[in-house]
Amino acid sequence: MKPKILVYMRVDDRVIKELAKDFEVTHFKNHEYIGDPAFDQAIREADGIIGLALKVNKELLDVAPNLKIVCNVSVGYDNLDLEELTRRKIMATNTPGILDDTTADAILGLLIATARRIPELDSFVKSGQWDISLQPDQYGVDVHHKTLGIIGMGNIGSAIARRAHFGFNMKILYHNRSQNKEAGEKYQATYCELDELLEKSDFVCLMIPSTKETEKIMGYEQFKRMKNTAIFINGSRGNNVDEDALYNALKNGDILSAGIDVFTQEPTPKDNPLLQLKNIVTLPHIGSSTMECEYNMSKLAAENLMKGLHGKKPPCLLNV
Ligand code: DGY
Repeated sequence: MKPKILVYMRVDDRVIKELAKDFEVTHFKNHEYIGDPAFDQAIREADGIIGLALKVNKELLDVAPNLKIVCNVSVGYDNLDLEELTRRKIMATNTPGILDDTTADAILGLLIATARRIPELDSFVKSGQWDISLQPDQYGVDVHHKTLGIIGMGNIGSAIARRAHFGFNMKILYHNRSQNKEAGEKYQATYCELDELLEKSDFVCLMIPSTKETEKIMGYEQFKRMKNTAIFINGSRGNNVDEDALYNALKNGDILSAGIDVFTQEPTPKDNPLLQLKNIVTLPHIGSSTMECEYNMSKLAAENLMKGLHGKKPPCLLNV
């Protein structure tokens, strides 16, 4: 009998086909969870999980007695209770390294779309309102030669800095757990404390992983510190931001606008007040979602899964 795997959300079809040669595959695509009878059966029998953003916590592990490995198709692993997995000797893996450029492209795109109000003006044209010339209150703001503050200068932060420095002549400030010498030398990025970065930046881009320590790192006080002409971009995780504080800052003009790829709850509820605001550009967590990147991440996650279930060390093992 083939070992059983639960595939969750977006995993490239070609990779699933390959996996189906070695494993019995059940695929859930719509945020199913405990309580859904088909999901309950699959998780009870699963030897491995491969996928995106499945909440793997004590509650789930208690109903997954056969589980040996959980393979995220993402670099972030805030969906995994790593301590609990380790305690139960269940392997966990992620897909670092291959999504940096793709995510940096998306974040720069979001930054430009927000600064130049691209979605709003796209709707203006498509809804047939472009019958008079554009009014100054529809203009955006420049990106080039501005100051970009990056919170989290890891691989993705560095890829954003590279684009901003060489492509847009931006001045780069950054805040990070430790100083990033390479970013300093290559992109003339200057390390500063968080408060200073918030006060001096025209664009603040949040790119840190999500941990207990970073929860709501951007709150009322932090948005107040930003320039009222500044733009906030979140390409990290939703719970790094206090969404009420962001709403307030956007509504009261403490900041100019925001571009958000991530939300505290995903998919975000339709009645999230942020969605009512004109000065916010939103995306459904698509930082790494391109055809090419998803394929490469799926392949790496599948390699992790194969190795793990065949008794070898997965290349991107996070624990055990
Ligand atoms: C990642 O890889 O962490 C992306 O944000 C997708 O979740």
